[in-house]
Amino acid sequence: MKNRLQVQHLLDFIDASPSPWHAVHSIEAQLVPFAFIRLHETDQWTLQAGGRYYVIRDDSSIIAFVVGQKPLADTGFKIIGAHTDSPGLRVKPNGASYLDGFLRLGVEVYGGPILATFSDRDLSLAGRVSYKNNQGAIESRLIRFDQPLLRLPNLAIHMNRAVNDDGLKLHKQNELPLILTRLSEEQLPQPYFAALLQAQSSIEAARILSWELNVYDTQKGAFWGAENEFYANSQLDNLASCHAAITALLDNSVLAADGTLVCALFDHEEIGSTSTKGADGSFLPDILQRIALTHATDRQDYARGLAKSIQISADMAHAYQPNFPLAYDPDHKVLVNQGPVIKVNAGQRYSTESHSEALFVNWCEEAGVPYQKYSHRCDLPCGSTIGPITSAKLGIRSIDVGNPMWAMHSIRESAGVLDHDYMIRVMKRFFSG
Ligand code: CO
Repeated sequence: MKNRLQVQHLLDFIDASPSPWHAVHSIEAQLVPFAFIRLHETDQWTLQAGGRYYVIRDDSSIIAFVVGQKPLADTGFKIIGAHTDSPGLRVKPNGASYLDGFLRLGVEVYGGPILATFSDRDLSLAGRVSYKNNQGAIESRLIRFDQPLLRLPNLAIHMNRAVNDDGLKLHKQNELPLILTRLSEEQLPQPYFAALLQAQSSIEAARILSWELNVYDTQKGAFWGAENEFYANSQLDNLASCHAAITALLDNSVLAADGTLVCALFDHEEIGSTSTKGADGSFLPDILQRIALTHATDRQDYARGLAKSIQISADMAHAYQPNFPLAYDPDHKVLVNQGPVIKVNAGQRYSTESHSEALFVNWCEEAGVPYQKYSHRCDLPCGSTIGPITSAKLGIRSIDVGNPMWAMHSIRESAGVLDHDYMIRVMKRFFSG
């Protein structure tokens, strides 16, 4: 029952987070009731031992931390890293265009989605708009259309007889624009779209200067299976890991721990992490250094603290799907509802090495949590995570783990109910141990 409640909380969190900007807003809403204080990078900081803080960079990356009671040089940082973004479609700046009586929205592909899964879904838009306020300053505001606003209707099988043999192939430039409405030839598509943004944001269209809009699926999360033992939603990769990390951090025994605890949740993982707020940017090094130097620690103690630090890089893993046995290494089939997955790759696409792996196994055993080990097929290219990037930048020990899930990068992914609680428990053990 507890598992079900925790997963329902996760599904509600995802439904409230249709874009990475919304995800960070949802995470902030969880932190504030636990007395976390927002810090701005432009301000002077004063930190207290045991104090709870968070920093947001450019609306879609967030680092939440608890300052340790003990000196940093003794404890190091305990970091859980994950990502707030998911692959999908993003509206182009001049996306609204007219064709044959329709207003279509041109989109760019963000990261590596399974494009076919975006067809015939009840799609809508969410993101942020930037505008000039009454004082002439530029501000940003979240925007979300709740109703299904857009669609990518499939071609009937009568016009695409080979679809079940060849798969659904969509030409990214010509066949991905989404249908928004019918339009007469006198109506101009871009002012029409600007008026929609105005109506939804309550910001005068002439003041809206730019936007970033994600295409999202309006279908809510759901449990499925004969025993409701599975769940499905969009963006499980990687909002499920973000939710597990924050849930672990907000546990009362964790908040009272001695060490300095950090949840670092980054945008832009799906496009390679190189940006001002991505895992390959300066955000995490900047904040860790600032925590150290603000909290009466000199550079040598900061270096000693980093050398003592450890990171869990949490990102979802590929669960075995019995219809496709040949897609998996036969000795590394990881199963839903069988516990967190330790990801190992000799090429360091995952940051796991034997020592960090042993640490994680030990935390699982101490927390009474089962675990599994994954290695990708040798004849398929392996994905990667933020783990190798952040551990290389900071020189800290790291391990890559994640819960098993099906259909990674589909608009509708699914996973096992038991695994979410398992992951939260081992993360709590990591933070409080
Ligand atoms: Co991911």
